Amino acid sequence: MRAVVYRKPFDVAVEEVPDPHIEHPNDVIVRITSSCICGSDLHMYEGRTTAEPGIVFGHENLGIVEDVGSGVTALEQGDRVVMPFNVACGFCKNCLAGLTGFCLTVNPSGFAGGAYGYAAMGPYPGGQAEYLRVPYADFNCMPLPAGTDHESDYALLAGIFPAGYHGCELAGVAPGNTVAVFGAGPVGLMAAYSALLRGASQVFVVDRVAERLAKAAEIGAVPIDFSRDDPVQQIMDQTRGEGTDAGIDAVGYQAVNASGDREDPAAVLNQLVRTVRPTGAIGVPGRYVPSDPGGIDEHAKRGVLRVALGALCEKGLRVSTGQANVKRYNRQLRDLITAGRARPGFVVSHELPLEEAPTAYQKFDQRIDGYTKVILRPT
Ligand SMILES: NC(=O)c1ccc[n+]([C@@H]2O[C@H](COP(=O)([O-])OP(=O)(O)OC[C@H]3O[C@@H](n4cnc5c(N)ncnc54)[C@H](O)[C@@H]3O)[C@@H](O)[C@H]2O)c1
Ligand SMILES: [Zn+2]
Ligand SMILES: [Zn+2]
Repeated sequence: MRAVVYRKPFDVAVEEVPDPHIEHPNDVIVRITSSCICGSDLHMYEGRTTAEPGIVFGHENLGIVEDVGSGVTALEQGDRVVMPFNVACGFCKNCLAGLTGFCLTVNPSGFAGGAYGYAAMGPYPGGQAEYLRVPYADFNCMPLPAGTDHESDYALLAGIFPAGYHGCELAGVAPGNTVAVFGAGPVGLMAAYSALLRGASQVFVVDRVAERLAKAAEIGAVPIDFSRDDPVQQIMDQTRGEGTDAGIDAVGYQAVNASGDREDPAAVLNQLVRTVRPTGAIGVPGRYVPSDPGGIDEHAKRGVLRVALGALCEKGLRVSTGQANVKRYNRQLRDLITAGRARPGFVVSHELPLEEAPTAYQKFDQRIDGYTKVILRPT
C-alpha cells in the first residue's frame, strides 16, 4: 500500500510499504478515508524527536472496517469508524479511570500512553496510508453514522477536537467564564470553540498568524495579535484589568517571540501566569517534552524551562497538563456533530490526496498559504 514515510528532517515521501494484517484476534484493519496532519507530526518532521527514518506518520484516522479479527465482537466489515489517536487497552488502571492517554500496557518502552505513527509511543504504524491496523479494536474504534456525511467534522474526533475540549476540561472552563487561549493553531481553535460550546462568556485567542486569527474571529472569539503588542496587556484592557478565569496553552514548547524569529519555549506559560486571575486555572494541552534536540539552549534541550513559579503560587493558580484522553470525550462530541450542534470542520483548510503530503507538510510547517489543518484522503 501507499503511505507517508518519514525519511529525514523536513523530508517525507509517499512510498510503497507492506499492507498491515490481523496480528491478534482483537485487531481490525481499517481502510483509511481521512487522516489529518497534526502539529505534533511537525515535531517529528522537524527532527526534534527520536522518530526513526521509515516510520509511517498519521495518528488522527477515520475509515471503513475492512477486515475483522476473530475476537472482535462489536464491529463488522463496512462499519465507518474513527480512532482516538491514543492506542489504549481498556483494562489497565488508567484506562479504567478514563485516562486512556496514559494506558499502562500498550507501550513496550515503559512510557504511559500509545499512539499510531508516533516516536516513542509504541509499535503502531500511522494511518497516513491506505490501511491501518487497530489493536483492541472494540475499545479503540468509535462507530460513526454510515455514509460520507460530515467526513471532515468527524475526522477531527480522532485528535484535535477532543484535544481542544480537553484543554477546557483541564482549565475547568464553566458557563460564564472568560477564557484566554494561546495559539490559534488547530488545537487552540478547537479549545476556543469548545469553550464557547461550554458557555464561556468571552474567549480571547492569541496568535500572530492572520488567517488563524481570522478563523478565531469567525467563531465569535476575540483575536489578539501578539506581534503587535503585549498580549497580556491587550487582554487586561478588555477585562477591566481582572484577567481571565481560565487560560489554555495550545502552543507548547515551540512558542516563538513577538517577531516570530526566535523560539521562547516558556513564553506562553509565563504569559498565562500573568493573564489568569488569582485562583484561576491553566490547562496545558500544548506539548512540552523531556528532551528537545532542537531546543534553543542547554536547558531547553533537556526540557527544563524558566517558568515564573513564584508568581504562579502567589496567585494560587492551578495548572493541569497532558495528552487528551480522547475516548473520554469523543462519543459526546460525535453526537454534537451528528445533531448539528457542532461543526469543528471550519478549521480544515485543505483536503488533499495522499500524494500531496510532502507539499502539505512543508507548507503547514511554515504556516503559510493558509495551511491550518490538512486532511489527507488516501482512498
Ligand atoms: N494534548 C493533546 O492531546 C494534543 C493533541 C494534539 C496536539 N497537541 C499539541 O498542541 C500544540 C498545538 O498543536 P497544533 O496542531 O494547533 O499546532 P500548530 O503548531 O499548528 O499551532 C501552534 C500555534 O501557536 C502559535 N504560537 C507560537 N508562539 C506563540 C506565542 N508565543 N503566543 C501565542 N501563539 C503562539 C503559532 O503561530 C501557531 O499558530 C502542539 O504542542 C501539539 O503537539 C496536543
Ligand atoms: Zn495529533
Ligand atoms: Zn490501558
